[in-house]
Amino acid sequence: MMESKWVWFIIIGVMLSVLEDSLTDACLKHERVALLHLKPFFNHFNYLYKWDEEKGWDCCRWEGVECNTTTTTTTTGRLIRLSLNSTRGYNMGDWYLNASLFHPFKGLNSLNLSYNSIAGFLENQGIEKLSRLDNLETLDLSYNSWRNNTLFHMGALSSLKTLNFRGNLVEGNLLHIQGLNNLTNLKHLDLSGSGIESFSNQGLNNLTNLKLLDLSGNQIESFQSFKETKGSRSLKVVYLDYVFTDGSIPLLNLAEAFSSVKTLSLQGSYLNQTMTSEGLKVSTNVEEILFDASILNTNILQGIGVFTCLKTLSLSGSGLIGSLPNQGWCNLRNLQVLDLSANALEGMLPSCLANLTSLRVLDMSDNHFIGGLNPLTNLTSLRSIYLSTNHFQIPMSFAPFTNLPNLKALSIDENRLVMETSSHTSVPKFQLKAISLSKSITSQGLGLQLPTFFHYQYDLRSVVLSGNNFSGTFPVWSLENNTKLQELVLKGNSFRGHLSFSSAPNFDLSLMDMSDNKLQGQIPSNICSTFPHLRMLFLSKNAFEGNIPPCLNGMKDLSFLDLSNNHLSGRVPQELIMNSSFSILRLSNNNLCGNVVPAILKANKLRNLYLDGNNFSGEMPNVDVSTFRFPTSLQEIDLSNNKLYGKLPRWIGNISYLERLALSNNNFEGCIPMEFCNLNTLEFLQLSQNNLSGSIPSCFNPPNIEHVHLHGNRLSGPLSFALYNSSSLVTLDLGGNNLTGTIPKWIGTLSSLSVLFLRANHLQGRIPI
Ligand SMILES: *[C@@H]1O[C@H](CO)[C@@H](O)[C@H](O)[C@H]1NC(C)=O
Ligand SMILES: *[C@@H]1O[C@H](CO)[C@@H](O)[C@H](O)[C@H]1NC(C)=O
Ligand SMILES: *[C@@H]1O[C@H](CO)[C@@H](O)[C@H](O)[C@H]1NC(C)=O
Ligand SMILES: *[C@@H]1O[C@H](CO)[C@@H](O)[C@H](O)[C@H]1NC(C)=O
Ligand SMILES: *[C@@H]1O[C@H](CO)[C@@H](O)[C@H](O)[C@H]1NC(C)=O
Ligand SMILES: *[C@@H]1O[C@H](CO)[C@@H](O)[C@H](O)[C@H]1NC(C)=O
Ligand SMILES: *[C@@H]1O[C@H](CO)[C@@H](O)[C@H](O)[C@H]1NC(C)=O
Ligand SMILES: *[C@@H]1O[C@H](CO)[C@@H](O)[C@H](O)[C@H]1NC(C)=O
Ligand SMILES: *[C@@H]1O[C@H](CO)[C@@H](O)[C@H](O)[C@H]1NC(C)=O
Ligand SMILES: *[C@@H]1O[C@H](CO)[C@@H](O)[C@H](O)[C@H]1NC(C)=O
Ligand SMILES: *[C@@H]1O[C@H](CO)[C@@H](O)[C@H](O)[C@H]1NC(C)=O
Ligand SMILES: *[C@@H]1O[C@H](CO)[C@@H](O)[C@H](O)[C@H]1NC(C)=O
Repeated sequence: MMESKWVWFIIIGVMLSVLEDSLTDACLKHERVALLHLKPFFNHFNYLYKWDEEKGWDCCRWEGVECNTTTTTTTTGRLIRLSLNSTRGYNMGDWYLNASLFHPFKGLNSLNLSYNSIAGFLENQGIEKLSRLDNLETLDLSYNSWRNNTLFHMGALSSLKTLNFRGNLVEGNLLHIQGLNNLTNLKHLDLSGSGIESFSNQGLNNLTNLKLLDLSGNQIESFQSFKETKGSRSLKVVYLDYVFTDGSIPLLNLAEAFSSVKTLSLQGSYLNQTMTSEGLKVSTNVEEILFDASILNTNILQGIGVFTCLKTLSLSGSGLIGSLPNQGWCNLRNLQVLDLSANALEGMLPSCLANLTSLRVLDMSDNHFIGGLNPLTNLTSLRSIYLSTNHFQIPMSFAPFTNLPNLKALSIDENRLVMETSSHTSVPKFQLKAISLSKSITSQGLGLQLPTFFHYQYDLRSVVLSGNNFSGTFPVWSLENNTKLQELVLKGNSFRGHLSFSSAPNFDLSLMDMSDNKLQGQIPSNICSTFPHLRMLFLSKNAFEGNIPPCLNGMKDLSFLDLSNNHLSGRVPQELIMNSSFSILRLSNNNLCGNVVPAILKANKLRNLYLDGNNFSGEMPNVDVSTFRFPTSLQEIDLSNNKLYGKLPRWIGNISYLERLALSNNNFEGCIPMEFCNLNTLEFLQLSQNNLSGSIPSCFNPPNIEHVHLHGNRLSGPLSFALYNSSSLVTLDLGGNNLTGTIPKWIGTLSSLSVLFLRANHLQGRIPI
């Protein structure tokens, strides 16, 4: 009995200690102490304020610290990741670090010291001291001020797999930085933007595991002895962006030297030579060549055919001019992505393009191509085609595309839409997700019908068809057939008739733009229940009539609403203006009425409010700004051309970021309040055609004001120093008031002023030039 009691004690004791061990997520004591030794060097912004024995002894929960929760022994240590990036600050002045401070972290796997202005290590405490950290695989030293001698000793860190040295001041010849050649486990080496002037892959001879090398942004004057080496044979990705300056990109040499490279990035390069396949001694495995934002010769396309494995070729914004060659590049049967956008290419598409049978993505937008699209008709792998801003002829039948079963995205804005003589329409094999067909040029004077292929689409997410003068009734079926539609933009066409929505709700539609059409009748009252997550609704410039549907008041996601330039009537519900999801509300130029002032005072999130050109009435009250939460978010207010009256309220001066204020053509009276002098961001002020009197406050000098319209009031007194400092003033219209005194000289010093009206006052003197 006695013995079993002891056994129980022992078992419970063991269990407790096991429990204690497993409960302690906590760091090891000596690691905690070591962190506290590091803290003063890296706590410039007090970001490490929680590194404190008192506030939390479990250092594994401190900022930038990560521990290995599965480690149970104390031999390796618990701390595996230390992120001290940006804790000292960039541009804070160079300083030198003591590498021995990291010794205690025996299990450290990843150390991030980027953005800390570190210039080097203390004498005898150099980077080689880190070689004791056997598990260190990732070292991020980017964006400091390290010199080349740091790299020189780097060879000691033999466990490293990733070294980021981006944005430092290495300077000199990488060939001599032998230290790196010792890092035989290295997989990723980033030396971009480090002032390297000369490079030889001999220097990386031993790096037989290196997969990625980034030398971008160095002005490398000479690439010495490109020879295939043990090391270069493992490379898969090489970035040489913005490296070459002398116009001789050794593309073929590079491809030979890095014989297993799959991605070769040469963006921002300059090449002024013809490239031919002559001289290419080994077949290359390059699958991706990125030449964007370079200055190239179009005949690079003839030579590029030697890269038979190529899958991606990107030549966007590369200064290509002239026609595409009809040979050379067309044998790239593996090419999947071709980007020729933003060049000055012209002429017809060459027929050999039809050989690029693997193409999935084709971007030729923003060039000067003409003619038809026949070479594309059999490229059945195509998923995305971007041809916007060219002079292509797109037949209304969409025949060049109908045979492409995988096509999902089609972007063909700003081309020519043409009617064919034989108007046979075939059912397209594709189901598009996105189409953009805007601002087409048509030879038809009259409006076109929508291309018929639309009737067969039921998977569309984004439809943008603006500015085409399409006519006919509103294509309500497009909403009914495409239940996943997210964006429908039909602005600037001639669709007519009534809007009506089936009651089946669409939860995805977030943007509907029907503005500038010929729609009429009421705005359907089920618009909110049909599209409950609308974020932007634009129905301006149509002929809608009747009331604004009250349900819009409660739309929780709606932030842009534009119903301007219709024939809407009735009172505007207060709740609409107060809807806190709105940031832009435009109801201008309708026949709306009611007193909107109380609602404006409570519009706390609204940025832009346009209610001009209606029959709104009411008096703007003065409220006590110390207790009242007035609409401080407003940046633009237009209430002009209404029937508002009373004095201009002083609280307008407290709208700190107001940029545009238009209150013209109402019945406001009294003075311009002194508080307007606080409107420091004001750019546009229009108070014309009211009944304002008194003088313009001489403190009124908004530094960025451009347009001031005060004509047709009863403002009096001399033009003292108001606007005297407003050097950005373009328009100053003070005509038709009762101003007196002499025209001040400073008006002649307003250098941007181009419109000045002072007539119909009692001013004396000449306008100074
Ligand atoms: C965490 O510790 C375990 C056990 O010691 C070890 O196997 C594992 O590699 C460590 N993890 C890291 C990321 O160091
Ligand atoms: C350090 O880098 C990590 C990873 O990018 C980031 O999550 C963290 O916010 C950075 N720390 C500081 C202080 O900026
Ligand atoms: C190091 O920190 C920088 C800056 O926050 C971050 O961009 C980078 O990704 C981090 N490096 C690693 C290896 O996490
Ligand atoms: C560097 O840090 C180690 C470990 O904390 C310390 O023993 C040594 O004195 C420090 N050296 C210098 C020059 O500060
Ligand atoms: C290279 O690594 C070996 C051990 O792997 C070491 O003895 C030698 O000092 C290192 N060389 C340099 C230049 O760091
Ligand atoms: C390091 O840079 C200096 C110039 O700052 C240069 O004189 C020196 O040769 C470079 N050292 C190496 C090893 O490239
Ligand atoms: C690295 O390469 C050099 C020749 O560039 C050679 O002398 C040296 O022994 C190699 N070192 C290792 C660790 O492989
Ligand atoms: C390309 O080189 C030729 C002479 O080889 C020269 O005439 C031409 O101006 C160069 N083109 C550019 C864009 O530098
Ligand atoms: C296109 O492929 C055909 C064979 O399918 C071939 O005869 C023709 O030469 C190729 N054209 C080009 C320009 O590569
Ligand atoms: C497309 O393929 C069809 C059938 O294989 C062929 O008749 C037609 O000529 C091809 N069109 C083009 C432009 O290559
Ligand atoms: C799309 O709508 C039209 C017109 O209502 C209809 O004829 C057609 O069958 C619909 N298409 C699909 C795929 O539902
Ligand atoms: C213009 O101002 C003068 C006094 O400066 C005043 O007598 C006159 O009534 C004012 N005219 C109008 C139309 O307000």
